[in-house]
Amino acid sequence: MDLLSGLLSRRSIRKYTDAPIPREKVEELIKYGMYAPSAHNRQPWHFVLLNDKEIFAKILEFQPHTKMLADAQWGIVVCGDENLALTPDYYPGDCAAATQNILLAAHGMGYGAVWLGIYPRPERISALAKLLALPEHIHPFSIISVGVPAQEATTPERFYPERIHFNHW
Ligand SMILES: Cc1cc2nc3c(=O)[nH]c(=O)nc-3n(C[C@H](O)[C@H](O)[C@H](O)COP(=O)(O)O)c2cc1C
Repeated sequence: MDLLSGLLSRRSIRKYTDAPIPREKVEELIKYGMYAPSAHNRQPWHFVLLNDKEIFAKILEFQPHTKMLADAQWGIVVCGDENLALTPDYYPGDCAAATQNILLAAHGMGYGAVWLGIYPRPERISALAKLLALPEHIHPFSIISVGVPAQEATTPERFYPERIHFNHW
């Protein structure tokens, strides 16, 4: 799959088969995340790999839109490190770029993935940090649910030329 067609055909995938994904493959996904752009190239991220169904069930208690984790092979928690970031307000943008890279890489490798929101909800950030025993300076940003797709994805029309403005609004 070439990069540009992958950008258009990537969709959130929330249904998975029970086919396993080896740990090396999910670590490869994280490698692509680490190649994302970041402010001043600080690369202020850490990644917590999850495959414990009990942890998935506990996440559902404070993030209700994560039911698909029950059937996922892996969850990847993208975390920002406020000590590595230029300033703490920069890490969310950096972590968003890493999250998107992982979603696109999953698509490119034939896996299905979906971004599960943690940031900016303070109650989700604190509950997940507690559940995973994260140090004080590490802030969970997103969870990416990953599995082998059990659903077809479509490419809806999303190009709105009227949203493009030239020089001035
Ligand atoms: C910040 C953010 C938070 C999201 N949180 C969730 C979520 O909690 N659960 C979920 O199923 N999808 C979540 N999504 C996925 C969006 O619903 C999805 O990207 C959107 O509907 C567009 O569909 P597509 O990804 O297939 O293009 C989130 C996406 C973003 C960017």
